[in-house]
Amino acid sequence: MQICRDLPSLRAASAALHAGGKRLALVPTMGALHDGHIALVTAGRAAADAVATSIFVNPLQFNPNEDLSRYPRDEEGDLDKLRRAGCDLVWMPPVEAMYPPGSATVIEVAGPTAGWEGDARPGHFRGVATVCCKLFLQSQADVAVFGEKDWQQLQVVTRMAADLDIPTRILPVETVREVDGLAMSSRNRFLSSQDRETAPVLLRVMTQAAAAIATGGTVEAALQDGLATLRGHGFAPDYLALVEAETLKPLAARRTAGPMRLIAAARLGTVRLLDNIAVG
Ligand code: PAJ
Repeated sequence: MQICRDLPSLRAASAALHAGGKRLALVPTMGALHDGHIALVTAGRAAADAVATSIFVNPLQFNPNEDLSRYPRDEEGDLDKLRRAGCDLVWMPPVEAMYPPGSATVIEVAGPTAGWEGDARPGHFRGVATVCCKLFLQSQADVAVFGEKDWQQLQVVTRMAADLDIPTRILPVETVREVDGLAMSSRNRFLSSQDRETAPVLLRVMTQAAAAIATGGTVEAALQDGLATLRGHGFAPDYLALVEAETLKPLAARRTAGPMRLIAAARLGTVRLLDNIAVG
C-alpha cells in the first residue's frame, strides 16, 4: 500500500495506473475509519482496478462553533485497516498541501444544499464540495465512492460533479449499521453507555414513519408521531422529514413518481446522530 503525502507523488501514482490501462476508485474520508468506510473501499475495489483512500480532516467544512480539534484521529489504526481491506494507495495531504497560502477558490452548490444539514451547519457543504472537487482533480479518479449515510452530502457531490462536467463517476454505497441498527459513525464513540442503548430508537422510529407513509398514512401525522417518540426517549430532534431523494425538497405528501427519502438529525447527549432511509 503506497502512502502519498504530497501532490506530485499522488499524481505520479495515478498517472502510472492510468498508463497501465487501470481504472482508479477514490474513497474520500476524514479518517477514524470504521466498517462503514471499509465497505466503501470494498465497493471501490469491485468497481475499478485499484482503490485509493484519502484521509483529510477538512478544516473548510467545520464552522467556527464546531470543534475541529475534537475530531477523532488514528493514523496508525486507519492505515492498518486499509492494508487489510486491500487498499492500494492512501492520500493523506497536510493542510498546507490542500490549501496553500493564497487559496481563494471555493465551490458553492445551490439546490440540494438548501435546508437540513445546510441550515444546521452554515458553510459546511461549501467546504465539502470544494474539497471533493479538489480530491477528484488531484487523484484523477474514474470513480468516487460515497456512503448513503450522509444522504444530503451524496446528492450535493453528485450535483457538483454533474454541473462541473467532472468525469469522475459517483458511486453510492448503502449505510452500514451496527447489529442493533445504529448507523456506524466516527462520532458514536462519544455516546454515553446509556445513550448508546437508546440510539437505535432513531432507526426504529424512522422505519415506523416510513412504513406509515408507504401504506397511505398522512405524512404530517407520521412525522409528528416520530418526533414525539424521539423526544420521549430523550432525543432533541433537529428534523425528521420526507424529501425528494435527489433534490432534498420537503414533501408534504407522498410522491407518486420518483424516489423519496426519510431523513433525520437528532441530538442525544452531546452527539448529533444523522440517518436516512428509503420510503416505499
Ligand atoms: P467521513 O465522515 O469520514 O465519511 C467518509 C465517507 O464514509 C462518506 O462518504 C460517508 O457517507 C461514508 N460513511 C460514513 N459512515 C458510513 C456508514 N455507516 N455506512 C456507509 N458509509 C458511511 O463524509 C466525510 O467524511 C467528508 O465530508 C468527506 C466526504 C471526506 C469530505 O471531507
